[in-house]
Amino acid sequence: MYVVKSPLTDANLKTVSEALQGALVDLVDLALVAKQIHWNVVGPRFRSVHLQLDEVVDTARRYSDTVAERAAALGISPDGRAATVAVGSGIGVTPEGWVDDTTAVGTLVEALGAVITRMRERVETTGEPDPVSQDIFIGITADLEKHHWMFQAENG
Ligand SMILES: [Fe+2]
Repeated sequence: MYVVKSPLTDANLKTVSEALQGALVDLVDLALVAKQIHWNVVGPRFRSVHLQLDEVVDTARRYSDTVAERAAALGISPDGRAATVAVGSGIGVTPEGWVDDTTAVGTLVEALGAVITRMRERVETTGEPDPVSQDIFIGITADLEKHHWMFQAENG
């Protein structure tokens, strides 16, 4: 069922659709991973890491909404269901149970790195078909790279 008419050609829409849907599942999962670690971190740096993780959650949640609504605006139905996220996310398995602060920070460095790599690919693939979506991916990448820097500095 198509309700919203897309301004893009079918070929371009397919490329942009995959990029937006991929970004959506990565960002939903990033928010979940950051919350999981936010709740489970222990150790001398608990307070700073615990608070820093919620900044990632805020970024990931905000941009998941931006990406999903960009998809809808192009006539693409966004799929943020748990099963879809579990299958499609680019983030590896998060450690179970309590995590010491150094491992917690390392987990975020890896998770952010994985999402950033995929987000940079989306910047490349959407430039021609839809620079408006590309602009969103550029903004997301900049913010994720800022978080990535800060977590790397935490374990520096
Ligand atoms: Fe909290």
